Amino acid sequence: MLALDPVGHTCAMPLPRTLEDFRRTFIMMETEGLEGYVDGGSGRGITAVRNVEAWEAVELLPHVLAGSGTPDTSASLLGVTDQFPLLVAPTGFQEYVYPDGGRAVPRACAAAGVRYTHSTFATSGFADLAAIDDLSWWFQLYVFTDKGLNRALMAKAAEAGASAVVMTVDLAVLGQRDRDLHTGFSLRGRNIVPCAAEAGAPDTRLAPLWASLDHDLSWETLSTVIAESPLPVIVKGLIRADDACQALDLGAAGVIVSNHGGRQLDTAAATARALPAVVDAVAGRGAVLVDGGIRSGLDVAKAIALGADAALVGRAPLWGLGVGGEPGVAAVLRILQEEFQRSMTLLGARTTADLTRDLLY
Ligand code: GLV
Repeated sequence: MLALDPVGHTCAMPLPRTLEDFRRTFIMMETEGLEGYVDGGSGRGITAVRNVEAWEAVELLPHVLAGSGTPDTSASLLGVTDQFPLLVAPTGFQEYVYPDGGRAVPRACAAAGVRYTHSTFATSGFADLAAIDDLSWWFQLYVFTDKGLNRALMAKAAEAGASAVVMTVDLAVLGQRDRDLHTGFSLRGRNIVPCAAEAGAPDTRLAPLWASLDHDLSWETLSTVIAESPLPVIVKGLIRADDACQALDLGAAGVIVSNHGGRQLDTAAATARALPAVVDAVAGRGAVLVDGGIRSGLDVAKAIALGADAALVGRAPLWGLGVGGEPGVAAVLRILQEEFQRSMTLLGARTTADLTRDLLY
């Protein structure tokens, strides 16, 4: 496999073989500002680092002689079975990482059989997604003060084939990104936001849209979104068990245990540590997913063993995109899938249902 340079020419450089190598190559290739925006966290980046360390700290007690040579890696989520319990998390602005990145990421997901979550601020629109064969996707909603726009975004997503709305609840205001303050990096003022344009927003430019995000998100906002969504709603960005229960009580179909990849409230608890209490409190009443610091298929296996229905990766596909365009994203997803399968074999898990807390030390 050959890498593509940022203007689409093939280079003689082979694609990296591990996620960590993708990350390092991405850091070397990108400008300091963009690299800091993608890889950095909020504040001093403590949660961003601890997310990763918390997965590393989970120790395993594998079963042996379990006949798990060819494990069944499939998992069901909201009534649909995927080949792997792995999704791509919503990240906007892909085209600043790679030309046509907004379409490259969902295309790679479709080819890999990975469910894709499309950010409100993605650089491709609903029509682009509808044109990708075999794409299974969810729409991530940032809630705007304009309720008509929120309704139109959800309706357009449903029309284009999304199967759920993911409402982000941890970005009432943007976390203070110290690294962006140092580099002066900003995405504002760039281009239009395709989803907002297709939903008929009066002003489709990023800066005014960003300024019109609803800063007063409340349980009432969630109830309104649930009432007005034509699709099941999943709440993304909580780490407390009581919040998860309240979201389900209001009618959410599931929750994503997430601290926004450590990009919002610095020193918020690492998701690997917050997950078990949420799983126990939800007790099967809805789906529980997790993101933040997932750096390998082994981490995905740990997430499932801790009780998650699936895990999401946000930064890793962007590393793949920046390093190698669509083939780079495909390679990252393949690495994660292969690692997950190998981890199941080595854990003695024949099916994903065998990934339980029994395997954790
Ligand atoms: C936006 O969601 C960001 O994390 O920068």
